[in-house]
Amino acid sequence: MAFDEFITHALQARQAAGLQRRLRRIDGAQDTWVCIDGRRVLLLCSNNYLGLANDPAVCEAAQKAAVDYGVGAGASRLISGSMRLHHALEDELAAFKGTEAALLFNSGYHANIGAITALVGKEDAVFSDELNHASVIDGCRLSGAHIRVYRHHDVDGLAELLATTAARRKLVVTESIFSMDGDTAPLSAMCAVAERHGALVMVDEAHATGVVGPQGRGVVAAEGLQDRVAVQMGTLGKALGAFGAFVAARRAVIDLLINTARSFIYTTALPPPVVAAASAALTIACTDGERRERLQENAAALHAGLQTMGLQVAARPAHILPVLIGESDRTMQVSERLLAESVFVQGIRPPTVPPGTARLRVTAMSTHTPEDLRYALTAFRRVFTEAA
Ligand SMILES: Cc1ncc(COP(=O)(O)O)c(C=O)c1O
Repeated sequence: MAFDEFITHALQARQAAGLQRRLRRIDGAQDTWVCIDGRRVLLLCSNNYLGLANDPAVCEAAQKAAVDYGVGAGASRLISGSMRLHHALEDELAAFKGTEAALLFNSGYHANIGAITALVGKEDAVFSDELNHASVIDGCRLSGAHIRVYRHHDVDGLAELLATTAARRKLVVTESIFSMDGDTAPLSAMCAVAERHGALVMVDEAHATGVVGPQGRGVVAAEGLQDRVAVQMGTLGKALGAFGAFVAARRAVIDLLINTARSFIYTTALPPPVVAAASAALTIACTDGERRERLQENAAALHAGLQTMGLQVAARPAHILPVLIGESDRTMQVSERLLAESVFVQGIRPPTVPPGTARLRVTAMSTHTPEDLRYALTAFRRVFTEAA
């Protein structure tokens, strides 16, 4: 009874606050157009930025791996043997990120909680951007380290916190491209500040890997910071279209993770088809620069169109384009209206974003055609003119 009441109240409270979440069933792959309730709608909210999630070569690699290696990894890699495929992808990822080694994790969530808890503990301090992803926040909390949150991108604020915090070890954690804002952290300045205070820097490149920098190596590589960022985390389920994640770092850091990162040790390894798909996708992402160019062009076109309508968008275009609405209810209403116009854009509400900053999270894909973008912008114009 106690639980029944709790569950009912928890759901009612969410609904009353306009924060209830529900799963939206779609048919088909994460393509530019998907089917919802039997209707074709333009997909404008997927992280499948480069269109690799259903790329024929990537799917074929997964199929072949299923035949050659089976569909399951059998156990944790420390228990039933560590498959050749996993090691090969780790070597590719280390080369891609310019580090000595890399280690696969089952998701970005696992990678962040595993790496942070392995690096800091009770006597340490972790410095985290206020807009960092939930997986970073949870990693910080799980570590037991003293958590110091600095204002978004505020390097001076970070410096002050570093200077006034006494701790055995200090770890600075930030995303490079922020998942809900699409903006980029001032990594070089942050590294300089961290170095002055003997702190280590960890960068979550979930939304930059495959998309930004030379051959899609990320912001760290684009800014030549490989030797100054101790831990580079990236995901395989967004631009690389597959699933899973990795940490790239010095060999000693990776050895530490193999020995102490609980989210690596105590879970069954990534399935072989997923690993093979990620490897094929990585090859395409590295070699097919045209996809990145098209993604940038599409992002710029969407940004320009949304800006022209007077909507509250970021100053600069990026593949993640938040359209700030403010209130949660209104955000979801606009999202529904867009869906009625056959454009699927997800509304993002607290606690994913701070209260009062609910938004539409528009994402561009390299596979969107100019007609797709025109279609999307026409729908936006209609919905926002109507709502004005
Ligand atoms: C910045 C950031 N880090 C980590 C994650 C978690 O990655 P994954 O979806 O692979 O668990 C996400 C994705 O939601 C993210 O946006």
